[in-house]
Amino acid sequence: MNDFTFYNPVKLIFGKGQLEKLTEELPSYGKKVLVVYGGGSIKKNGLYDEVMSLLDKLGMEVHELAGVEPNPRISTARKGAEICKEQEIDVLLAVGGGSVIDCTKLIACAAKYDGDAWDFVSKKASPKDGLPFGTVLTLAATGSEMNAGSVITNEETEEKYGWGSPFTFPKFSILDPTYTMSVPKDQTVYGIVDMMSHIFEQYFNEATNTPVQDEMCEGVLRAIIENGPKLVEDLENYDLRATILIAGTLGLNNFLRLGYQGDWASHEIEHAISAVYDIPHAGGLAIIFPHWMRQYVDVNPERFARMAEKVFQVNPEGKTTKEVALEGIDCLRSFWSSIGAPETLADYGIDNSKIELMAEKATINGNIGNFSNMSKEDVEKVLIASL
Ligand code: NZQ
Ligand code: ZN
Repeated sequence: MNDFTFYNPVKLIFGKGQLEKLTEELPSYGKKVLVVYGGGSIKKNGLYDEVMSLLDKLGMEVHELAGVEPNPRISTARKGAEICKEQEIDVLLAVGGGSVIDCTKLIACAAKYDGDAWDFVSKKASPKDGLPFGTVLTLAATGSEMNAGSVITNEETEEKYGWGSPFTFPKFSILDPTYTMSVPKDQTVYGIVDMMSHIFEQYFNEATNTPVQDEMCEGVLRAIIENGPKLVEDLENYDLRATILIAGTLGLNNFLRLGYQGDWASHEIEHAISAVYDIPHAGGLAIIFPHWMRQYVDVNPERFARMAEKVFQVNPEGKTTKEVALEGIDCLRSFWSSIGAPETLADYGIDNSKIELMAEKATINGNIGNFSNMSKEDVEKVLIASL
C-alpha cells in the first residue's frame, strides 16, 4: 500500500423519509436556490413535488434548470452557470442521477468563474471557488453523490472527460432508496455494472500489500452479485434498493481506494466510446471490461485468480493460476449477461469505422491505466475484441 491522505467531507443522509432533512441542510447556504434535474423522471415519481413543497416551506427563492441529459453536456452546464450569475444564486440542489449531479458540480464552479466552463473539464484552468450544492440522489450507480468527480461531454467536439476539484464535493447528499424504486430495469442493470466496474478499477491497482482493501472490495462485490439479480427481478423492493444504493456510494467514495489509484483505463476507453456514440456509460463498460481483463491477465494472474475465487467462488483444484483467472473473467461476463447487460459494441450498432478515433480520444494525454499502461494501439485491440 502506498502513502495516502484521505479526505471526504460529504454529509451522507440515508434512509426512508430523509428528504425532510433538506429543511435543516439547505437554509445555512442562503435563500436563492437553483434546482437542477433531468428529463422528467422526478416529476413522474413525485419527488419534484416533494422537493418543491419543502423549498416552499423554507421560503426559498427557487430557480430551475431542467433537462440535464444522460451524459451531461457542456451547453447545459453553461446555461446553468448563466442562471446562477444572472439570478445571484446562493446554493444549488441536484435532484437526479449521476448526470444531474455531475452537471451541477460544473455549474457550481463555472458560476464563480469569468471564463468558459469547459476550461475546467479540459484542465485549462482549475476552479478557485464554487457555489455550495447538495444532492438528492435518484439512481444508484456513479458514486458522484459522495465524491468530487464530474464527467462532462462536449457535444460539439465529441469529447467526454472527467474532472474534479476541492469545490466539487457535495455539502450533503440525501439518499432515500424509495426514490430509486422507479428506476427502470435497464438503468438498474447499468447502475450495477457501473458500481462493480468502479470496484474492479480500484482492485486492479498499482500497489502491493493491500489485504484490508482487497477484502473490502471483494465483500462489496459479493453483496452486489448476491443482491443485484434479485433487485432486477423485484424493482420495488426497498431493502434490495437500499443495499444496491449504499454499494454504489461505497464503490466510488474513495474508501476502497486507500493507498493506490487503481487502473481506470476501462473508464477512459468507455468515455471515448460514449463521447463519439452517446451510449449509456455502463453499457460501454459491460462490453469492454471483460476484454480489458483478458488482455491484461498476464500482468498479475494471481490477482485475477484471487478475484475468481473470492468473488465468484471458482474452485481452483487441479487448475493453473491462469486457468482460474480466466474462469473468473468468464464468470463476470456471464453474470453481466445474465442480468441483461450488453456484450458487444454491435449491440449499440457500433461498427469498426471509428475504432482509431476512439482510441485516439482515450489516449489523448498519453498512455492510460496504472495497472495496464495502455497505448493507443492497446486500446484499439480492446475495442476490436469488443466489436
Ligand atoms: O433524466 P431523467 O428523466 O431524470 O432520467 C434518468 C436518465 O434517463 C433516469 N433516472 C434517474 N433516476 C431515475 C430515473 N428514471 C426513473 N426513476 C428514477 N429514480 O435514468 C437515466 C440515466 O440517468 P443518469 O444520471 O445519466 O445515470 P447515471 O447515474 O448512471 O450517470 C451516468 C453519468 O455519470 C458519469 C457517466 O459517464 C455518465 O455521464 N459518471 C460519473 C462519475 C462520477 N461523477 O464519479 C463516475 C462514473 O464512472 C461515470 O463516468
Ligand atoms: Zn463508471
